[in-house]
Amino acid sequence: ACHAIILAGGSGTRLWPISRSLFPKQLIALNGDLTLLQETLKRALTHFRPDHIHVVTNEEHVFEVRAQARTLDPRLEAGVIAEPRGRNTLPAILLGLDAAWRATGGETPPTIAVFPSDHMLGDIPRWQAALDEATRLADDGWFVTFGVPPTHPETGYGYIRRGDSIADRSFEVEGFVEKPDHATATAYLKDGRYFWNSGMFVFNGQSLIEAVHAHQSDLGHWWESRGDRPLIEGYTSIPSISVDYGIMEHASRIAVVEADFGWDDLGSWEALYRLGKKDESGCVRRGDTMALDCENSMLFSRGGKLVGIGLKDIVAVQTRDATLVCALDKTQRVKDVVELLKAES
Ligand code: GDD
Ligand code: MG
Repeated sequence: ACHAIILAGGSGTRLWPISRSLFPKQLIALNGDLTLLQETLKRALTHFRPDHIHVVTNEEHVFEVRAQARTLDPRLEAGVIAEPRGRNTLPAILLGLDAAWRATGGETPPTIAVFPSDHMLGDIPRWQAALDEATRLADDGWFVTFGVPPTHPETGYGYIRRGDSIADRSFEVEGFVEKPDHATATAYLKDGRYFWNSGMFVFNGQSLIEAVHAHQSDLGHWWESRGDRPLIEGYTSIPSISVDYGIMEHASRIAVVEADFGWDDLGSWEALYRLGKKDESGCVRRGDTMALDCENSMLFSRGGKLVGIGLKDIVAVQTRDATLVCALDKTQRVKDVVELLKAES
């Protein structure tokens, strides 16, 4: 049976000042009562056995992650794995694969489905159907991605060029390009054959290990040190690399399943506003806030009362030690602010 590996170690700075390295966005309830990580786990429970769900996170977040997992379902806590230091997604996936393989105790490594923990997904039954198709393909040795039809030249995503069709709504992949520059992304958008990579994958464990050996020999070497105990030794000295750059840009036999289930990576305050529940004047409010004569704005407080008067197309976010007031169409620039603040400190 397929195992789920949930990646929960990123820092998500585009939602500053709420999301920070100490409290990244997957650990925060952005839209409802559950945090994004809990939403991800809840979704995973509709498709995977609790003991087949493995969460990989950084040591500094492991207590919070365990607590959130336990609150949702006590059986999930045992599946939380701590990395001594973040080494990006490929090593994190290998830790998950190691745990999954140990859990099955089989001769060959199991098939794994990899999920980010910082996304929003609309339609669960369609997602399950897409997963079933992906798992069938992975069992045939394909590296399976989920492709989202692009709407703008986003440079923060991977791009997947589709080729011939394989089944109902899956295609062979002719090329995978992680985070192209703006001109390239614009050309891809025009081309019409490209999908955005959703960040979810389904891999046949054996094929993944072979690809690691072929394309990331340092990691392959480390994987070979696998012994009787869970793989963790030497973790801080292995290369830091994402699965996208490390494997997907080099692998052959990649397939893409069309993602028709409503997906958003919640990468900006604009996205949170767009997807948030609005009042009759088009405002989204979270936390202790008040809005007078406001239109199409977002007020979000996690520290004290936040009051807006006469706001239009504005995002206002308050925390205990920082406040953001930003035009709704400029929220992509928050990441520049984070860079500037880093340079300052
Ligand atoms: N455990 C662990 N350790 N998890 C990590 C680490 C790490 O060192 N680094 C990142 N993650 C988690 C993040 O929390 C997130 O849930 C997921 O892995 C993806 O990492 P991101 O850092 O958010 O990747 P990205 O957004 O730059 O790019 C990926 O997602 C895009 C879609 O949102 C790529 O797969 C792109 O191709 C894709 O388009
Ligand atoms: Mg991301």
